[in-house]
Amino acid sequence: MATQAMSEKLQQEVEIHFEGKSVKLPVHRGSEDEAGMDLAKLRSSTGLITFDPGYGNTGACKSAITYIDGDQGILRYRGYPIEELAEKSTFLEVAWLLLQGELPTKAELASFSAEIKQHTMLHEDFKRFFSALPKDAHPMPVCAATVGALATYYQDPESERQIHSSVIRLLAKMPTIAACSYKHCIGQPFMYPRNELDYTSNFVQMMFATPCEDYPIDPAAARAIDLLMILHADHEQNCSTSTVRLVGSSQAPLFASISAGISALWGSLHGGANQKVIEMLEHIAREDGSADKYVARAKDKNDTARLMGFGHRIYKSYDPRAAVLKKTCAEVIGRLGKSSKLLEIAMRLEEIALKDEYFVSRKLYPNVDFYSGVIFNALGIPTNMFTVLFTMGRLPGWIAHWLEMRRDPDFRIGRPRQIYTGATKRPYVAIERRG
Ligand code: CMC
Repeated sequence: MATQAMSEKLQQEVEIHFEGKSVKLPVHRGSEDEAGMDLAKLRSSTGLITFDPGYGNTGACKSAITYIDGDQGILRYRGYPIEELAEKSTFLEVAWLLLQGELPTKAELASFSAEIKQHTMLHEDFKRFFSALPKDAHPMPVCAATVGALATYYQDPESERQIHSSVIRLLAKMPTIAACSYKHCIGQPFMYPRNELDYTSNFVQMMFATPCEDYPIDPAAARAIDLLMILHADHEQNCSTSTVRLVGSSQAPLFASISAGISALWGSLHGGANQKVIEMLEHIAREDGSADKYVARAKDKNDTARLMGFGHRIYKSYDPRAAVLKKTCAEVIGRLGKSSKLLEIAMRLEEIALKDEYFVSRKLYPNVDFYSGVIFNALGIPTNMFTVLFTMGRLPGWIAHWLEMRRDPDFRIGRPRQIYTGATKRPYVAIERRG
């Protein structure tokens, strides 16, 4: 695997003094000159630990996969700008890039694609697995459970060869699992994968076709889904990727680690936001269509409403993925000739928020989920499947991080510390003497 060399030099030190003790902490620099002080000796030298709720200042690893500059709105996979990949690449090419570190040659891409096609089917017994789940189950926990269950079918010890098979199986079976999770809840028969189709068209076929008749796949719709998956493919140490790393750091198998990542992604502050954006837009449309009223609610600290699809922990100018999607959104809706009511409300929300002091002062801009939901909606993807499509997109990123962590010579089990605020030592009280 070729990876970009990390120009890491120890250039500076940070000195910390605390209660008569001191320590000099070396500073590590990354290839884009990001600096981080190395805290390995902090506790043993000073007794201090760091306190960083939400990990806003914590670098948990070194990584050569994805670079983000949130102030400049930059996102690059393995050095390639997201805008170029979105325009010129395909999802499978990007998956290879994330996993292998370089863009594939024609021959590499052809054999990667062929290998994936050999593993797209699920074991027939999974039909019984799905039938045990309620019909109204949200597809996200269905996907998490199914991916976790793959660990029961493939139990060989994780040699390099076995890990390669698990990676291919996961990439191959994820669209099948995603489509089955949907077919299960609408009561239609599962569709088998079709090897003559490309990765994304195959997903569209399994999701929308029925055994009764041929289903004509719209290449433009398949390309829009492929593009969305490219934009979601990795985002360095976000909540779900950090979860995959943390679970994997105990040497839990790949399937179990990815299943945990899917659960982390489901939450509405993370991948689940795309579903929440459409629900918010539909709510506004149902009420009186007033974006202003909803913005006022989002600013009110006594109201739990947030402007879904706005704000990001890292991006403080704009989310470059949202910029690509804003353009795609108008194109897709224009081409499909769909009603643009939800897009109109979205544009109005964005216009108000971008001028509003509350959002401007907090640097809250539209994120990737703001437009992706509108596009999925226009493409006829059911709302509860939006986050499942995010999952399919994020899969190669999760796997690349899991592999990078397992091969890192500095690899240790993840184990944060805490500042204890509970009761100090006290004697046990017999039950008859309590209360
Ligand atoms: N609407 C209204 N106010 C907001 C919003 C929002 N969407 N986002 C942040 N704020 C306010 C927040 O109340 C706080 O105000 P104050 O300083 O007065 O207390 C300030 O902005 C900072 O917010 P925060 O919650 O401390 O920021 P964070 O970095 O912890 O959270 C976030 C980032 C994405 C969870 C948050 O912006 C949010 O909840 N956004 C809506 C959900 C969303 O769209 N999530 C998708 C993220 S992008 C895709 C992905 O990575 O999964």
